[in-house]
Amino acid sequence: MTPYDEISFGSHPDRPYTFINMVATVDGKAVDPGTRQAPSGGPHDRQAFLALRAHADVLIYGATTGKDVPPEEFLDADFQAARKKAGRDPLMKFVLLSHGGHLSTADKIFGNPDFTPIVYVPEGVELELKNADVRHAGRGGGLDVAAIVQELKRDGADIAICEGGPTTNEPFLRDGLIDEFFLTVSPRILGGNAVLTAVEGEVLPPERGKLELVSAEPAGDEVFLRYRVSVK
Ligand SMILES: NC(=O)c1ccc[n+]([C@@H]2O[C@H](COP(=O)([O-])OP(=O)(O)OC[C@H]3O[C@@H](n4cnc5c(N)ncnc54)[C@H](OP(=O)(O)O)[C@@H]3O)[C@@H](O)[C@H]2O)c1
Repeated sequence: MTPYDEISFGSHPDRPYTFINMVATVDGKAVDPGTRQAPSGGPHDRQAFLALRAHADVLIYGATTGKDVPPEEFLDADFQAARKKAGRDPLMKFVLLSHGGHLSTADKIFGNPDFTPIVYVPEGVELELKNADVRHAGRGGGLDVAAIVQELKRDGADIAICEGGPTTNEPFLRDGLIDEFFLTVSPRILGGNAVLTAVEGEVLPPERGKLELVSAEPAGDEVFLRYRVSVK
């Protein structure tokens, strides 16, 4: 059992109800400088993040993190069964955001013909990728994340999860597109200088960063925090 097995969400008429899910250490680090991966949450964290994924129609990632996600995670029979139980399409939609610079056909996420990620790049950027649905949104080198989520809603996505990384989270928060923020506190202290935290980039306007606690659930040495982004 995880705190999120029976979770439910709100809705919006013109965009998916959208939440971020991240893990961070007790000293606030979202990347382990030793492995360059997310700090391991622990035995309960993987179950919790799979439960959250099972309840969303679409998973959004920045290119740096998302290109290395194994597509087989989404084709797994147990995961697809959990999605079906949650009332979702067994095959999760996967969206990768990029300015165009760092993607290639050799990236892991494009490695399975049974899985077709959607890749958004700005207008004018042409990408040749196998097993990918390449789309355009935004001009002048930047992506329009609001236009992207509206298009995803028109495609039938009612619930979206953004798993980062930290650079990707910021424009969604800045544009007021995030409804909830889930954080797993990993029972570790890493130390280090200039190590990424859960949100990186521009300083947010104060009203975009206000949170209300919805739940706080310990499991072993981990803590699962669920916050609503306050619009007051
Ligand atoms: N703790 C956690 O829960 C967690 C979760 C996820 C990731 N991580 C860690 O975070 C690190 C990577 O994070 P990161 O912040 O450097 O990278 P990231 O957010 O994964 O990806 C950033 C890249 O995504 C693309 N991108 C994102 N938003 C965009 C936008 N609005 N417009 C255009 N392109 C956009 C750009 O790709 P292009 O360069 O192709 O233009 C950008 O360079 C990794 O070490 C990973 O393991 C931790």
